[in-house]
Amino acid sequence: MEQACKPRKRKMKGIVLAGGTATRLFPMTATTSKQLLPVYDRQMIFYPLNTLIKAGVKEILMIVAPEHSGQFLNLLGSLLKKHGIHVTFEVQSVPRGLAEALTLGENHIGDDNVALILGDNIFEDDFAKQIKDFRSGGHVFAKKVSDPERFGVVKFDENNIAVEIVEKPVEWISDYAVTGLYLYDNCCVEIAKNMKPSDRGEIEITDVNRAYLEKKELEVTLFDGEWLDAGTPDSLLEASMIVKEKGISRNFHPILDQAIIEFNEELKIRSKKRLQ
Ligand code: G1P
Repeated sequence: MEQACKPRKRKMKGIVLAGGTATRLFPMTATTSKQLLPVYDRQMIFYPLNTLIKAGVKEILMIVAPEHSGQFLNLLGSLLKKHGIHVTFEVQSVPRGLAEALTLGENHIGDDNVALILGDNIFEDDFAKQIKDFRSGGHVFAKKVSDPERFGVVKFDENNIAVEIVEKPVEWISDYAVTGLYLYDNCCVEIAKNMKPSDRGEIEITDVNRAYLEKKELEVTLFDGEWLDAGTPDSLLEASMIVKEKGISRNFHPILDQAIIEFNEELKIRSKKRLQ
């Protein structure tokens, strides 16, 4: 019998995780989702979407909090449809950890592979090649940081092979944070389903990565470009400034640019009609 997650050429589905309450951004996130806050000239959510669209991902599941689902639907519900990108939505009623995206996304993933991206992660680098070339196992992207205790962290041996991965290590193990883009083969659904919550009560994405590491199936790629998470007022402001300075929002995939232009036009027509 064929194993459920036996490597073979599969499609790459996309999941953007945009749930959560973002208490560190109160009061801004009392009225909207963190991922709908602006980063320079567009909503934060467009940046992770761009990362997937640049890699040719055409079926994208947005996981959103119930209180913000209407706003996400307004913005993204029909934005990409005529460009051949199918966006669907799943509500995460209570955030139980990042790896829950894989179980909530089980039907969406189906028999395929998945690129999971966190809705608040902004990358300067283009990972299109790695996403397109992905076949099996797990593949994560790590970056050197000055505050590794805030992240999932990966340790390498003297041959630069990943040997250990720990969520928010209390004791220093390495300066390399695992960022919020995760490529997995179909096994990830079963892995996530069988996981127990951590001490902080969450199904940890780091545990999924560790499961692949233990099977010697986790590839870790280091990168140098900007990686921004906009979790505090200061880092949100800084993200806008870096995005502007480095031209990150001027480097979007033409499909997404076009869709945003069309949406702007539609909004203008709608507001004119309202004034009539
Ligand atoms: C989460 C993950 C962590 C990862 C980080 C990247 O942390 O748990 O492993 O390094 O995203 O943004 P959180 O933002 O939930 O603290």
